[in-house]
Amino acid sequence: MSRYWSAVVRGLTPYVPGEQPKLPNLVKLNTNENPYGPSPRVQEVLLAESGDSLRLYPDPNADRLKEAIATYYGVTPGQVFVGNGSDEVLAHVFLGLLKQDRPVLFPDITYSFYPVYCGLYDIAFETVPLTEAFEIRVEDYARPNGGIIFPNPNAPTGRALPRADIERLLAGNADSIVAVDEAYVDFGAETAIPLVAKYPNLLVVQTLSKSRSLAGLRVGFAIGHVDLVEALERIKNSFNSYPLDRLAIAGAVAAMEDHAHLEITRRAIMSSRDTLVRDLAALGFEVLPSAANFVFARHSQRDAGELAAALRARSIIVRHFRLPRIEQFLRITVGTDEQCRALVGALREILR
Ligand SMILES: Cc1ncc(COP(=O)(O)O)c(C=O)c1O
Repeated sequence: MSRYWSAVVRGLTPYVPGEQPKLPNLVKLNTNENPYGPSPRVQEVLLAESGDSLRLYPDPNADRLKEAIATYYGVTPGQVFVGNGSDEVLAHVFLGLLKQDRPVLFPDITYSFYPVYCGLYDIAFETVPLTEAFEIRVEDYARPNGGIIFPNPNAPTGRALPRADIERLLAGNADSIVAVDEAYVDFGAETAIPLVAKYPNLLVVQTLSKSRSLAGLRVGFAIGHVDLVEALERIKNSFNSYPLDRLAIAGAVAAMEDHAHLEITRRAIMSSRDTLVRDLAALGFEVLPSAANFVFARHSQRDAGELAAALRARSIIVRHFRLPRIEQFLRITVGTDEQCRALVGALREILR
């Protein structure tokens, strides 16, 4: 605290990202990174882009990237917004579309950055409890609201909502924005992007950090009606004209174009997830059905905080949230088969 701080800064409760320890030989299963590298094409284009052209500002509109994303999803470039990671895109969504007279709704257990954006932008919000089985129930959102946002699959539960349910939510909330944060959608959920053509109140947010393994490059995007995209562009152009640098634009285009790499790596992760779920269940864990690159699991007898600490002592880190309803759960990123085996082996020892 300093007397030079503004009242805004004094009132903030910032988001705390999962730690990025600098320890060697760590099995790092705490921030849902992809255990496989990005498309090899990314490195080639980054090398090519890292010379003289860095003198010049990047394209403020990242048109090449918008075209690549639009082509992949069968929409127009005007329906695409891009930003510095989906966190930045989400920040603009909160300020540009979800700050309304009525409170924005999101689940009680969800991505913990949402209440932080509400704090930053002074947005009223209400949380809607997930069911006992940690599912989103569309009927629970049938109340006056200034917008609705949730991840699909949800984080940190991993549970997915079928597209038909999202359509019911859209139809029942024609007067407000429904933003679907699809950070993990490629690992087994249905994307809502096909509904964009029919529902002008739908905005889908995605990232290249997870399924395309580019968390370090910071690229996210949103797809929706051109009017919604225009709102985000207005915020972006009032904040930072160049959120994506030359390297990010070039690398992201290469990643979007390499369909085969995406397919191979996401299938490998889904297959490792199946094995991990079976192994955890055999050790006495209840594992929520996951459509993401992580699983959310609690042990019938052992305290989650103690398990996380015991894993850490063995150089394996997972995420433990000390929050109501989920304090007995561990969120475990699906790593390579080898990393998953290391985790399961360590848990077997700890639980003996
Ligand atoms: C649900 C959800 N949305 C968005 C993000 C942000 O991802 P990024 O800013 O890397 O695109 C994350 C990151 O973990 C997430 O879990």
